[in-house]
Amino acid sequence: MSINIPRGTQDILPGAVENWQYIEEKAREICKKYNYHEIRTPIFEHTELFLRSVGETTDIVQKEMYTFEDRGGRSLTLRPEGTAAVVRSYVENKMFGNAAQPTKLFYSGQMFRYERPQAGRYRQFVQFGVEALGSNDPSIDVEVISLAMELYQSLGLRKLKLVINSLGDSSSRSAHKEALINHFAPRIEEFCSDCNSRLEKNPMRILDCKKDRDHELMKKAPSILEFLNEESKIYFDKVKQYLTEIGVEFEVDSSLVRGLDYYNHTAFEIMSNAEGFGAITTLCGGGRYNGLVEEIGGPNTPGIGFALSIERLIAALEAEQINLPIKSEIDCYLVALGDNAKDKSVSLVHSVRKAGLTAEKDYLDKKVKAQFKAADRLQATYVAVLGDNELDRQVINVKNMSTGVQEEVPLDQFITYLVNNKQ
Ligand code: HAM
Repeated sequence: MSINIPRGTQDILPGAVENWQYIEEKAREICKKYNYHEIRTPIFEHTELFLRSVGETTDIVQKEMYTFEDRGGRSLTLRPEGTAAVVRSYVENKMFGNAAQPTKLFYSGQMFRYERPQAGRYRQFVQFGVEALGSNDPSIDVEVISLAMELYQSLGLRKLKLVINSLGDSSSRSAHKEALINHFAPRIEEFCSDCNSRLEKNPMRILDCKKDRDHELMKKAPSILEFLNEESKIYFDKVKQYLTEIGVEFEVDSSLVRGLDYYNHTAFEIMSNAEGFGAITTLCGGGRYNGLVEEIGGPNTPGIGFALSIERLIAALEAEQINLPIKSEIDCYLVALGDNAKDKSVSLVHSVRKAGLTAEKDYLDKKVKAQFKAADRLQATYVAVLGDNELDRQVINVKNMSTGVQEEVPLDQFITYLVNNKQ
C-alpha cells in the first residue's frame, strides 16, 4: 500500500515553488527597506508558552494544537503561530537591552494547526510575519500595517480590504467584558458548550465563535469601541490619522476581535475581495500585544505585529489571475553528438557553470532531436552543439534561440563568448 501525504498539508513542487521563492524574496526585500531583521526560532516550543500567550480559551489552544510528550516526558507543541516564540526569544535573549530599539523582527516558517482542512485552511502552512517590540507609538502600528499592504501590492494584488479595530487597554476591556457578560448571560444556554464555558472567563471569545456566529445576540453585542477610555480613543485616532496621511484606505469594524488572546489596542486584518476567492477571505491578521512580553517573563514592553500565510497569498494571486514574473530559462544547453563530444561535454558544462552561468546537458543518451527538444523545454537562451567533427576542429556551434543567429566559436573562447553575450 502506498503512503499518502497527511491531510491538510501539501507538497510544493518545482514549477510552483518558484512562486514561493519569489514571494519570500519580495518579503525579505521589503523587510530590509523597513529595517526588520530575520529571526529563526524552533518549530516546537514548550506547550506552556502557547497556553500563556495565545490563551487557554482560544480555539487554537483548545482544539488545534499538535501537542506531544517527548521521551523526557516534557509537553511540547508544534508552533501554531510565530508571535509567542518571538516574544519568548526576545525575553530569553534579553533583546530589550539591545542598543537599537524598538526591536524589529521578521520570520517565515511552517506553522501547525489541527483545523478542518478546506480551501485556504491547512494543517501545515507557512506564515511570514513581523513583530516590533519596544514602542508604544501609533506610528509603528501604521508602519506594520503598511509593510503588509506593500507586500501584497508589490505582488500586484489590488482587491484588498484593510479592516481595523481597537480592543482598547485593559481598563477599556474590563468594562467591555462586563457588558458582554450582561448581554450574553440571560440566553447563554442557546449557545454552544464552548461559549458557555467562555462566558465568565473570556466572553470576547464568544464573538469569535465559528458555530454561533449567526445567533441574533451576536449582531447586537456591545461594541468595544463604546467602551474605549480616553487614552485608548486617542491612540486609535492617531492610528487612523497616520493611515489616512500615508494614503492607506481602511474600514473600521468594531466586531473584529481576532482569534488570539494577547491583543489590545490596534487589531487589523487584510482581506481579499477578489471575485471567486474562497469563503475564508482573511489574508493577514495582526495587532498590538502590550503585556505579552511581561506575561512571558520579561519587562513591561509593548509590541505589535502581523502574520500572513503564503498559501492564502497565492490563492489571492490566483483569484486576481496574477502571474508572478518568474524567470525559468537557463543560459546554455549543451548538445553533444558522438562519443568524443559526449566525453568533452562533461568538462565543458562544468566550465560554463564555473563561469557563473546556468547550464544543462543530456544524461540519457538522447538523439540530437530529443536534446534540442529538452533545450527548448528549458527555454535555453543558447544551445551549443558539439559534434566529433567540431571537436576535431576545436570549435563549437552556438545558437541564440531568441534571434536564431548561429555562430561557430573557437572552443577556447566559448565560455567568454557566453559570458560576454549575457551582459
Ligand atoms: P492568525 O490570525 O491566527 O494570527 O493568523 C495569521 C494568518 O495566518 C492568517 O490571516 C492566515 O493568513 C494565516 N493562517 C492561519 N491559519 C491558517 C491555516 N490553517 N491555513 C493557512 N493559513 C492560515 C497569528 O497567527 C498571529 N501570530 C499574528 C500576529 C503576529 N499578531 C501579532 N503578531
